[in-house]
Amino acid sequence: MSNSTQSEIVLEVKGVSKRFGGLQALSDVGITIRKGQVYGLIGPNGAGKTTFFNVITGLYTPDGGTFQLGGAPYTPTAVHEVAAAGIARTFQNIRLFPEMTALENVMVGRHVRTSSGLIGAIFRTPGFKAEEAAIARRAQELLDYVGIGKYAEFKARTLSYGDQRRLEIARALATDPKLIALDEPAAGMNATEKVVLRELIDRIRKDGRTILIIEHDVKLMMGLCDRLTVLDYGKQIAEGTAAEVQRNEKVIEAYLGAGHKAH
Ligand SMILES: Nc1ncnc2c1ncn2[C@@H]1O[C@H](COP(=O)(O)OP(=O)(O)OP(=O)(O)O)[C@@H](O)[C@H]1O
Ligand SMILES: [Mg+2]
Repeated sequence: MSNSTQSEIVLEVKGVSKRFGGLQALSDVGITIRKGQVYGLIGPNGAGKTTFFNVITGLYTPDGGTFQLGGAPYTPTAVHEVAAAGIARTFQNIRLFPEMTALENVMVGRHVRTSSGLIGAIFRTPGFKAEEAAIARRAQELLDYVGIGKYAEFKARTLSYGDQRRLEIARALATDPKLIALDEPAAGMNATEKVVLRELIDRIRKDGRTILIIEHDVKLMMGLCDRLTVLDYGKQIAEGTAAEVQRNEKVIEAYLGAGHKAH
């Protein structure tokens, strides 16, 4: 694990709340993630983890909260603005373009960073064509990096579940994000695939990126994360290193207490 407590702050979120009708999905949640960290978000089903991702990436409008990315305030009102500001994410329910190739899926991710943009990509403007070869090369590099380079020309829907999750990570990396947010990247993976995923996340961190990760596999998370926040019924019941979180009474209760399924 990196000793990155003194490095610069990448994401600072304070006082985020989100209500759905009568359900308080998030209550006054705040986190600080520093450069080079792997920051974990854990908690039982329905705790509010994905809702938190949806708020910071502009999918849901929060009822309150302040947001800073790379030292500058940002308001997560629109998904494309958040992507341009520097947060890339993957989804709990994989969201790829199933009929496009793996390579094309990553190229789409890259277009958020090109001058001709997504519109240029769709209408194939001259500016786009000039950039396309370079984008394709970079996309292939990213597929190689996540370990699925040989499937570049395969349609996304034909890849295994684990490989689709890795393709989503490649696509997220293509935006060259300040922060990469992974929502349950190990879901549906077997033990061997999880080891490979763990190595990939370690490599992404070693290469200087900052990661926010939701994952139910607590053992995987404890070994991987520099710091974690634990949510339960929308409330932040613990924050700290793996060792601190593991011995927190509220955390033990949340995972083992009545009414919750332990993971
Ligand atoms: N769009 C929505 N409309 C209404 N309720 C929602 C919406 N999105 C989430 N919720 C509710 O908010 C609560 C938190 O859901 P969320 O998906 O954030 O949990 P989670 O911690 O990601 O759970 P899981 O581990 O099962 O993925 C749940 O009770 C859920 O039903
Ligand atoms: Mg979720």
